[in-house]
Amino acid sequence: MTEPAASRAPTETPEFSALAMHARQAQTWQLEELFSRDTQRFERFSAEGAGLFLDYSKNFIDAVTMDKLFAFARACGLEQRRDAMFSGQPVNTTEHRPALHTLLRAPAGQRFELHGEVLSDEVQRVLLQMERVSAQVRSGAWAGYTGKRITDVVNIGIGGSDLGPAMACAALRPFASPTLRSHFLSNVDGHAIDAVLAGLSPETTLFIVASKSFTTQETLINAHAARDWFLASGKPADLAKHFVAVSVNAQAVKAFGIAPENMLPFWDWVGGRYSVWSAIGLSVAVTVGMDHFRAFLAGAHAMDEHFRHTPLERNLPTLLALIGWWYRVFFGSSSQLISPYHEDLRLFPSHLQQLEMESNGKSVDQDGLPVTTPTVPVIWGSTGSNGQHAYFQMLHQGTDLVPVDFIAPLKPSHARPGQHQVLLANCFAQAEALMCGQRKDERAGHEGQSLPAYRMLAGNHPSNMLLMDKLTPATLGALLALYEHKTFVQGVLWNINSFDQWGVERGKALASRILPELEGKQADHKHDGSTSGLIARARRA
Ligand code: F6P
Repeated sequence: MTEPAASRAPTETPEFSALAMHARQAQTWQLEELFSRDTQRFERFSAEGAGLFLDYSKNFIDAVTMDKLFAFARACGLEQRRDAMFSGQPVNTTEHRPALHTLLRAPAGQRFELHGEVLSDEVQRVLLQMERVSAQVRSGAWAGYTGKRITDVVNIGIGGSDLGPAMACAALRPFASPTLRSHFLSNVDGHAIDAVLAGLSPETTLFIVASKSFTTQETLINAHAARDWFLASGKPADLAKHFVAVSVNAQAVKAFGIAPENMLPFWDWVGGRYSVWSAIGLSVAVTVGMDHFRAFLAGAHAMDEHFRHTPLERNLPTLLALIGWWYRVFFGSSSQLISPYHEDLRLFPSHLQQLEMESNGKSVDQDGLPVTTPTVPVIWGSTGSNGQHAYFQMLHQGTDLVPVDFIAPLKPSHARPGQHQVLLANCFAQAEALMCGQRKDERAGHEGQSLPAYRMLAGNHPSNMLLMDKLTPATLGALLALYEHKTFVQGVLWNINSFDQWGVERGKALASRILPELEGKQADHKHDGSTSGLIARARRA
């Protein structure tokens, strides 16, 4: 092994060069042939941990590939950088902060101190606050201003303050309270709030304004609109029964008019896209109850422990990360499909889009130098069965290499006879068809007439299969933490800071310059010709 970590760019290590040489060979492989050469391939290239099972045998890898990938990960200092994250070192180097989302799911009693502050006590205190609010709302003890119980909870937030909670509420639908409906309002488009408020009553609605910064334009506009809607029936003194806030910015929450006792705090060492485990998950806790929310945290913690203590060779986040990196860097794949075979995981791909693309959509490394390989691919997807009747055609017969992560529970959370077997059969069939295409005898066709080219499925498309027994709060927690750590590992392989998002800021700044121009309040700024033309066109409408 060579000297580890940041002292040299990953691409300058001998381990990278060895992989680059080896990739030339691997690019010529036929996946089916790899199976015929090794009858133990499924056993050799599968691993499990924290209730998840990963079959990664349908990939362009063999034992030599994996050895080289592990050697490269070690040369990048993966183990040291992982330990630095867990121990609270400022791994978010541009914002000089730790990234301690893992602390949010550590068990009570596990003390964690940083710079003289016992952060674990803070975390437990806020969990108790969440427990109180969720128990009161769920039991009806938290009544609206006319004394009626709360029936609808609206989370107002965007990005990490929306996607994680919305995804988890959808995924845990079978665990939800039958007397509460949860809604998510993120888009500043007025059609969104119209759609959410239609059918709601101010007497029975609780708004959770979720914003780490409490300065996000979309969230504040929607929160003000919700407050105006409420005040058309209720009085200002009633607001406390209908608005709570989750933020790190107590001052801005107060300025908005939410009392400090109605605010649940979190901390700047929790990144937005890693915040569902904090009080940002309040809508989840209210919807499914605190016991299930704690089980969700425990599942994630089990994955944290797996990531921390399992050798790289059997370490699920490391395996997923290395395989994804392998395709992105050496096989020209520009996207990664996430294909969950579970209706309740339909929002999972959107959550991963923010997680992976906001984290690793960077082109400059930790030393301020250009990254010389492609970084994060486009993450996309939707539920598997639906995808099969839409874009899977492109996977089977298109021209791009699109690695797929199939995700499926072995058992359903419903009792409908037979349907789950049909779903699983489809899931396994897609992975098989992608890899094998047609069998030789099928290609040969009938009576010496081989299949016409347009019917041929060449196969040789790689995929991973992630299985769990059932989708529960614990397995959902483990699944999400798996992808969080996969994202972190890839950041290490590219030597980039996965915890900032400076690219997003520019659009925010320009929108606030364009807004007064659209409103006709301000003389035109200098824009490019297209933007000026669009502003003028909008003003004439
Ligand atoms: O889109 C950028 C971003 O900063 C995300 O990272 C974050 O999750 C989202 O905006 C919302 O931010 P906030 O929670 O501060 O409103």
